[in-house]
Amino acid sequence: MAIQTVGVLGAGTMGNGIAQVFAQHGLTVHLVDKQPLQLDAALASIDKSLTKFVEKDKITEDIKAGALGRLHTHTELKGLAECDLVVEAVTENEATKIALFKQVDDLCPEHTILASNTSAISLTRMAAATSRPSQFVGMHFMNPVPLMKLVELIRARQTSDETYQAIHLLSEEIGKVPVTAGDYPGFVSNRILMPMINEAIFTLYEGVATAEDIDTVMQLGMNHPMGPLKLADMIGLDTCLFIMKVLYEGFNDPKYRPCPLLQQMVDAGYTGRKNGRGFYSYD
Ligand code: CAA
Repeated sequence: MAIQTVGVLGAGTMGNGIAQVFAQHGLTVHLVDKQPLQLDAALASIDKSLTKFVEKDKITEDIKAGALGRLHTHTELKGLAECDLVVEAVTENEATKIALFKQVDDLCPEHTILASNTSAISLTRMAAATSRPSQFVGMHFMNPVPLMKLVELIRARQTSDETYQAIHLLSEEIGKVPVTAGDYPGFVSNRILMPMINEAIFTLYEGVATAEDIDTVMQLGMNHPMGPLKLADMIGLDTCLFIMKVLYEGFNDPKYRPCPLLQQMVDAGYTGRKNGRGFYSYD
C-alpha cells in the first residue's frame, strides 16, 4: 500500500523540517506537538523555508501553496489516527519516545509503519516496546532537513523487508538519498561525525587553538561547509553530549569519552544556537 498520509510527532527543528519535506512532495501531513507555540513556530519556519525556495526558483508558488494546504497541526496524538506512517522526532529521551510509541501503536491502524528520527537510540529496543516490531524502522534525517539530501535508514533487528522497502521508496519519492545502516551506536553518520566534533572540543579545551581557528582549519583546509564547533552549536551541544554518551556506553571504549568542556557547556545551559549561546553567541 502506498504511503499517502504521514504523521510527524514533535514540531521542533527536525520535526518541522521533516513535515515540510513530506508536504512539499505531495503527502498529507499531520504535525503533532503538545505545545501550541511550538506548532506556530514550526508553521512560521516552514513558510519561511518554502518562500526561500520560491525566491530561488527551486519550487513554484503552487507547490508552496499546496504544501501549506496539505499540512495540518494538532496538539493531541489522535491527529495521527489516519496515518500510513508516523515519524517521531521528539526529544532524545528513550523513555519519552517509548511512552509515545506505545500510545501511537494503540491509536493507529494495523498497517501503519512507525519510524523514529533518533540520532542514536536503539531502534531494536524501541521496536520491541510496540506490538508491531516488524513495522518499525529508523529514518534519520539531517539538519537542516529541507536542504540536506541524505536520510539514513536504520533497520531494527525486527524490521521486515517489506517495511524497509516501503520506506526506501518513500525516501526517494521525497527527493532524499537513502543509505542503510545497522542498528549499532551512532549508526554511520554520528559514529563518524561526533568523534570529530568531540575532538574539536578537546582541541579547544586543551588550548591548542581558538574556536574560530579550529573551525577555519576544517572549513578552509578540508572544505567542510562549516567548522565542527559551529556545526555542534547548530546541532545542539546537549544532543552532541547525548550521542557521545551513547557511543561511549554502547561500545564501552574510552576513545568515545565526551570532552569535559562539552559536559560543562551543557551544565551551564550553553546548548548552542537554539538558546543563543554555545561556542559562539547568537543574537
Ligand atoms: N530552507 C530553505 N533555505 C535555507 C534553509 C532552510 N531550512 N536553511 C538555510 N537556507 C538557505 C539560507 O537562507 C541561504 O540562502 P541565501 O544563499 O539566499 O542567503 C542558503 O540556504 C545558504 O545558507 P547560509 O548562507 O546560511 O550558509 P551555508 O552556505 O553555509 O549553508 C548549510 C548552510 C546548508 C547549513 C551548510 O552550512 C551546511 O551544509 N552545513 C553542514 C550541515 C550538516 O553537517 N548537517 C548535518 C548535521 S548532523 C545531523 O543533522 C544529524 C544528527 O544526528 C546530529
